[in-house]
Amino acid sequence: MRILFLTHSFNSLTQRLYVELTGRGHEVSIEFDIADSVAEEAVALFRPDLIVAPYLRRAIPESIWRKHVCLVVHPGIVGDRGPSALDWAIQEGEGEWGVTVLQANGEMDAGDIWAAETFPMRLAKKGSLYRNEVTTAATRAVLAAVGRYADYRSGTFRPRPLDCANPGARGRLRPLMRQEDRRIDWQCDSTEQVLRKLHAADGFPGVCDELFGVPCHLFDAHVEHRLRGAPGALLGRRDGAVLRATVDGAVWLGHVKRADRDDALKLPAALAFADETKDLPESAVPLWREDEDDWSPLRYHEANGVGYLHVDFYNGAMGTAQCQHLLEAYEFARSRPTKVIVLLGGADFWSNGIHLNLIEAADSAADESWRNINAIDDVARAVIETGSQLTVAALRGNAGAGGAFLALAADEVWAREAVILNPHYKNMGNLYGSEYWTYLLPKRVGMERARAIVQNRLPLGAAEAVREGVVDACLSGDVSAFTAQVVTRAEALAAAPDLAQRLEDKRARRERDEAAKPLAAYREEELAHMRRNFYGFDPSYHVARCHFVRRTPHSWTPRHLAVHRELDWGEQPPGRPKTVTHPLGGLPRSGGGTCKAAVKGVTP
Ligand code: COA
Repeated sequence: MRILFLTHSFNSLTQRLYVELTGRGHEVSIEFDIADSVAEEAVALFRPDLIVAPYLRRAIPESIWRKHVCLVVHPGIVGDRGPSALDWAIQEGEGEWGVTVLQANGEMDAGDIWAAETFPMRLAKKGSLYRNEVTTAATRAVLAAVGRYADYRSGTFRPRPLDCANPGARGRLRPLMRQEDRRIDWQCDSTEQVLRKLHAADGFPGVCDELFGVPCHLFDAHVEHRLRGAPGALLGRRDGAVLRATVDGAVWLGHVKRADRDDALKLPAALAFADETKDLPESAVPLWREDEDDWSPLRYHEANGVGYLHVDFYNGAMGTAQCQHLLEAYEFARSRPTKVIVLLGGADFWSNGIHLNLIEAADSAADESWRNINAIDDVARAVIETGSQLTVAALRGNAGAGGAFLALAADEVWAREAVILNPHYKNMGNLYGSEYWTYLLPKRVGMERARAIVQNRLPLGAAEAVREGVVDACLSGDVSAFTAQVVTRAEALAAAPDLAQRLEDKRARRERDEAAKPLAAYREEELAHMRRNFYGFDPSYHVARCHFVRRTPHSWTPRHLAVHRELDWGEQPPGRPKTVTHPLGGLPRSGGGTCKAAVKGVTP
């Protein structure tokens, strides 16, 4: 079928649906929801069988839904309506939640129901639930709804009207959640209530509060199991987070956005309040921890010849200092008498590469970009050069840009089947990229495919990534089932009788590769391009980053997504869109005065 996505952005759910539908042979084109007239034009150009709206913030215009079946994905149970569906479900402690696929009509979220799925809730950040449970349920529901379209056309399937489907059930119309609904009372709220409020507001809009007497929005909460203090008091700092006491415990606040400064960014709390936090006691935890109770982004443990390094940085972004800490942790893992090292990313992201917010906040964005790319390259080199153990990158969550290539530095890459990879950099202002990608990707897929993958700028599902040779294994199940399989497979690798031979072959291969072209040469070439991206005449990377970190709304849909806007679109055979690189590269965001500052620190 020909399916048009009308969506606010090409976010993780939209990418997953794109991968699933194109993988089933559907022809999918995408238009960002910018204005009614733009959406109408897209429909006229593409002439879709079906319109799917995976992530919309406004209603579909009547001119479209009157003439076409438009299926809207709503992250709520049947009958739930309103713009803060997940926020209410998390904050109010729903035990079960769901996703409903509705047909757009004149009333928001009130159309006929084509499919619905439910899932048990976790006490987790909104973004984590969205990227895991919601995305899985939405994928099932959209595939079911798309599968019903032919029956709908032939009259054998009729979607259920909302009222009949849901007499007196839990789902109902809820208003937009306001900051006063989210307010934390540090003198009264229990740790669980505080966590629910913070999780319901993560990563947008955050909970409006105060730290050190300064108004700010709080994000990225983690429970503390040991330390206690007077309710509301700040007790310590760890890995950029600050610890705040509740009436019955304490929570780590990882990130904040100050409200007293124009153009403030979401930053680690200890950086946003650098002066105020420096006298708080540092509450470090050892890297090697058997249980997960003590929060810290890095954790190492061992079992049966396998060393597991957990790396869970907020949003998968890895700043210079974080890369340095990761390198230290990795060197420790490498020094252990294990047979296999498994690099486990977070449950939501394996890695998204260099930390664009920290770069944006630095005095010189160009200098910080340079430091950050070198620091992440050092990590990649250490993994590539590991001769003493087999290395595995275990992708529980998505990986993008440099983060996707960092995974390829390992000998084996195992991905959860729901994982989406974006192994390309160009969306960030035509960034060339480093992390030894020019060595790692062609080694796996050949030069021609490597070029196509980085040029196409499209997401790859785990199964497709295996077919392409980018990834070695695609394992089914949710995060915990995947992790259990990783443990079984890693222990089998460590116990395999041919392990010594495998390690010897690996060392010999690396020596041959080094003789053919040293790693340093790959790095030098990549960094020569990156130096131009960071310091050169063309500011595209700085502009794209500025818009990305400020979440500037898109002002047009990139041509590689909006297939219907190809000049020769009607003449192309069905299938994947051919690549058209916009002359400016980067994500198509609206211009904004604030981003004039993007080029600060660039020395041409
Ligand atoms: N640095 C800082 N923050 C990052 C980041 C990075 N490299 N990558 C993602 N994030 C943040 C986003 O700003 C967003 O923040 P929020 O909490 O304020 O919402 C959050 O992570 C989730 O990102 P989002 O884009 O909404 O997730 P997605 O799953 O829809 O898309 C990517 C995933 C990887 C396609 C997209 O995040 C991306 O393009 N990231 C930039 C990758 C990059 O260019 N890295 C630098 C070159 S190595």
